[in-house]
Amino acid sequence: MRIAAILLAAGRGERLGTDAPKAFAELDGRPLLLHSLDAVRSSLEGAVVMVTVPQEWEARTSALVGNSARVVTGGDTRQRSVAVALESIGHDEEPDVIVCHDVARPFATAALFGAVVDALEGDGGADGAIPVIDVADTLKRVDDGHVVETISRDGIVRVQTPQAFRYEALVRAHREAGDESATDDASLLERIGLRVATVEGEADNIKITTLGDLRLAHMIGRSRG
Ligand code: CTP
Ligand code: MG
Repeated sequence: MRIAAILLAAGRGERLGTDAPKAFAELDGRPLLLHSLDAVRSSLEGAVVMVTVPQEWEARTSALVGNSARVVTGGDTRQRSVAVALESIGHDEEPDVIVCHDVARPFATAALFGAVVDALEGDGGADGAIPVIDVADTLKRVDDGHVVETISRDGIVRVQTPQAFRYEALVRAHREAGDESATDDASLLERIGLRVATVEGEADNIKITTLGDLRLAHMIGRSRG
């Protein structure tokens, strides 16, 4: 089975608020980009890896990743960045499976990468597979500082990356996407009725969005040694 991976790193990290894009924020003295790239490379041995980066960060990224990944200039939205990376895949290198992972999640394990790829084959097969986590907090809809209603947690989950897809399914989903608002790739498959399976996500697989998340990431990193 041929596997390719897209590491999404072209965001600006506005909510993190650092000068450089989020991918270059340091965790344990190394840019987030290298932590997440290590996770992808050690989990998906032999996979072609593409890294999407913001415009003008291509040279810096190439210097960091060497020949371990192909550097692609990302788009204005996450969805567009994935599309650009897909367009960079030549006819002769089309994979069977493609894995999309956010640079903002440096702690995804090889077991999780393996689980989403395996889930494409399991239980009758699926076009995509995503890690999910149960919601522990009570959920409410609010408006203007007041509670409108409490939302049932039944069947509600939080979604992580890495997400795995049959290559043709992801290409078709991106081609048929109506707009560019998708915050993950699975939602594009859902829109056109393709099957997306779920696997158990990982509590440590946090998404670094704010400075508080970066502090939490330092603690998780230290606890892992
Ligand atoms: N991403 C991307 N291209 C974009 C926007 C986002 O490749 N145009 C990537 C980010 O680098 C990140 C992932 O998609 O790994 C999820 O996005 P998010 O967590 O929102 O990161 P940022 O967009 O960088 O953060 P912010 O929204 O705070 O600016
Ligand atoms: Mg963003």
